[in-house]
Amino acid sequence: MSTYLHDLDRGGLPRHVGIVMDGNGRWARQRGLPRTEGHAAGEAAMWDTVVGADALDLEWLTMFAFSTENWNRPKAEVRYLMGFNRGLLRRRRDELHRMNVRVRWLGRRDWRVPRLVLREMEISEELTKDNTGMTLTIAFNYGGRIEVADAVKQLIADHDAGLLKGEKITPESISRRLYHPDMPDPDLIIRTSGEERISNFLLWQAAYSELYFTPVYWPDFDREHLYEAIRDYQKRSRRFGAIAENDSD
Ligand code: IPE
Ligand code: IPE
Ligand code: MG
Repeated sequence: MSTYLHDLDRGGLPRHVGIVMDGNGRWARQRGLPRTEGHAAGEAAMWDTVVGADALDLEWLTMFAFSTENWNRPKAEVRYLMGFNRGLLRRRRDELHRMNVRVRWLGRRDWRVPRLVLREMEISEELTKDNTGMTLTIAFNYGGRIEVADAVKQLIADHDAGLLKGEKITPESISRRLYHPDMPDPDLIIRTSGEERISNFLLWQAAYSELYFTPVYWPDFDREHLYEAIRDYQKRSRRFGAIAENDSD
């Protein structure tokens, strides 16, 4: 089933969509190709999804490109993914800039990230930082647990430096110290490839996200699948622990 832009109800759009781009390896295996060919084929899917999200005037799109656990993959695949993500930014950043998209990197800027990749991320962020269109966040060397641990570490450092000034320790104290405190929680999280798990993506922020799983492998995903997921999202009743508006006695 396809959903086109003109079929979508433009009211009630999610403000922030997160995507776990999964299934590249299986897509390639199915075709008798090396796993890396699956990653390469994922670029077109990513681009179509970004352009489709932009056409929808989505405010925030976050895509999971490399997790803190993905370092456990074979060296050659990790090396390929580093070069691939660097190349992707080099190939696409000018066009993203023309589209008025603000590019950001979400993740840990630690020693494991090759300097050339880090540099590419910083160039893209700097080039697009004043853009006022969609914010495209690339989660790279990202893990939800370490992000929360880093926030707690910061909280303790602020306490020790006497910066808390009576601030009570609340969930907001953690939220304020995440990598991008201004990023709203995702309303909708999509995961491709049939796996139905979070795999350490936006753990803190996903407390009330709607989850959408599709069996489609990432390289086969495109904007119509995104619209289909949004259409599904629009049928849901979000209650945040309360009751539906029209359901009181
Ligand atoms: C997602 O595809 C890309 C990354 C995690 C970097 P996978 O490489 O996980 O593909 P499968 O899950 O093995 O099919
Ligand atoms: C999640 O996919 C990470 C990314 C898409 C970058 P994985 O393929 O690494 O997740 P698991 O291992 O199946 O949980
Ligand atoms: Mg996977």
